[in-house]
Amino acid sequence: MTGQLDGKTALVTGASSGLGRHFAGVLAGQGARVVLAARRPAALEAARAEIAAAGGTASTVALDVTDPASVEAAFAEIGAAPDIVVNNAGISDNQPALEMDAAMWDRVVDTNLKGAFLVAQAGARALRAAGKGGSIVNIASILGHRVAGNVSAYAASKAGLVQLTKALALEWARHGIRVNALCPGYIETDLNRDFFASDAGKALIRRIPQRRLGQPAELDGALLLLASDAGSYITGTALVADGGHLVSSL
Ligand code: NAI
Repeated sequence: MTGQLDGKTALVTGASSGLGRHFAGVLAGQGARVVLAARRPAALEAARAEIAAAGGTASTVALDVTDPASVEAAFAEIGAAPDIVVNNAGISDNQPALEMDAAMWDRVVDTNLKGAFLVAQAGARALRAAGKGGSIVNIASILGHRVAGNVSAYAASKAGLVQLTKALALEWARHGIRVNALCPGYIETDLNRDFFASDAGKALIRRIPQRRLGQPAELDGALLLLASDAGSYITGTALVADGGHLVSSL
C-alpha cells in the first residue's frame, strides 16, 4: 500500500474492536506499518489478517495499557520506535456516581488516563532514543468537554486526557513530538448499535444538531490530519468530530 504514511510505523492500542480496529485499517491503508495492541493478541489476529488481505502490513503485540511492565515489554517487542501512537484503548463506567465503587473508578481512570500516559511516555522515550519526532493521537471524547449522566469517571478521565494532551504537547514540542486529542461524538459501533436503536438512544440522537450518529469513517480525516505530516504545525489541540453535539442548544 502507498499513501501519506509510507515508511511510518503506527501503534494502535485497543485495536481488537470498534474504533481502534477501524483506525488501524485506515493507517495501514495510507501505507503505515501498523502494530495492533490489546490485552489478548489472539483477538487481534482477525484484524491483522483483514489488514493483510487488503494489502496492508500489520503485526500484533500483547499490551495492557494499565500495567507499566506490560507497556515496557510491548515497546521492547516492537523494537523500532513507532512514528505514530494512537492511544485508543478505553472503557466506560455507565454507573450512577452514588453507586460507583472505588474499583470501578480505578479501572476507568487507569485505562483512559494513566494508560494513555504510560503509552505516550513509552512512545516519546522510544522516539527520543531513536532521535526522531513523531505524532501521538489520544482518543478522548466530547465527554471530555461536557457531561452526561452515569459516566462521571469516564467524563473525568477524558477531560483529564484532554489536559494531559496539552501538557505533553508543551513538554515534547522541543523533541519534534506532536501530541493531539481527537474527541469523537457518538459514533456507531457494534457495541452501541442496540442502545441507539432503543427509545433512549433515539432521543439522544435527536439532541445532536446533525440528527444522526457518526460513522467510524467520518473520523478518518481528523485522524490522518493529526497523525500525518499534513498536521505538522498542529500540536496540543483537541479536535472535535461530533455532528455539532457540543454546540447543541442549552
Ligand atoms: P471498544 O470497547 O470497542 O474498544 C475499546 C478497546 O480498548 C477494546 O479493544 C478493548 O479490548 C481495549 N482495551 C480496554 N482496556 C484495555 C487495556 N487495559 N489495555 C489494552 N486495551 C484495552 O470501544 P470503542 O467505542 O471502539 O472506543 C474506542 C475509544 O474511542 C475509547 O477510548 C472510547 O472512549 C473512545 N470513544 C468512543 C466513542 C464511540 O461513540 N464509540 C465516542 C467517543 C470516544
